[in-house]
Amino acid sequence: MIDGGFHKGTVNTITGASGTGKTVFASQFIHQGTKFGEKGMIVTPSESADYLKREMSSSFGWDFSALEKEGKLCIVDVTDPVLRLQKSIEIDPVDFLINFRKLVERKLQEVKPERLFIDDLSAFFMAVEAPFKIRSLTDDLFGTLRASGATSVVTIGTAFGMNQFLEYGADSATVLKRERIGNNLIRSIFIMKMRGSKIANSIRVLDISDDGMSVSSLSPYP
Ligand SMILES: Nc1ncnc2c1ncn2[C@@H]1O[C@H](COP(=O)(O)OP(=O)(O)OP(=O)(O)O)[C@@H](O)[C@H]1O
Ligand SMILES: [Mg+2]
Repeated sequence: MIDGGFHKGTVNTITGASGTGKTVFASQFIHQGTKFGEKGMIVTPSESADYLKREMSSSFGWDFSALEKEGKLCIVDVTDPVLRLQKSIEIDPVDFLINFRKLVERKLQEVKPERLFIDDLSAFFMAVEAPFKIRSLTDDLFGTLRASGATSVVTIGTAFGMNQFLEYGADSATVLKRERIGNNLIRSIFIMKMRGSKIANSIRVLDISDDGMSVSSLSPYP
């Protein structure tokens, strides 16, 4: 659908409502990379690293703990008190996002991953009131990601209405959906934009099974 894959060193967003498969998509991107010898890094601002590991292990048998031990993957748990990145409501969201960017920058220099996944940041951006601040914080963060040379996937929930700001600043934007068609709920995927490549102008059915996620050649609509 994107003429071969994400371009190296770009920032790619995956947008969708809750349960559409954003975390699965990005986790599979990282897991698949480790099979090709590409080191991965995962940053989980909203849920704990242990939770993500348990989820991916029970859903697909992907052993992120083993990959960490083998040095193929580094998971940065933002909730880790050692990192001192507090995300309490008393902290100014702009300060939080600036500190978050610095933390990611430091970790990227330390770990030097080829693939990076940052799970849903939209709730933090929602707390920033001025749109121009959201834009410049997004540009700063995405600039840091590009400068590292890693290929990044950033997931974005739609619940907070922050997706357009983040998609605007990204090199590509993919949208996941789950909707009722007849008596069934069908998952689907389409590419909203991809700078520097031609893209499929079609909506495709997305399957999630014990083997992970796959894109079908079918359209969800008759
Ligand atoms: N082995 C499996 N076979 C089929 N479906 C699965 C399997 N494992 C997980 N799923 C489904 O995949 C979906 C998980 O999606 P995921 O957690 O990636 O959503 P999300 O978009 O990240 O949601 P949120 O915004 O709430 O974080 C769940 O609906 C779950 O039922
Ligand atoms: Mg998720």
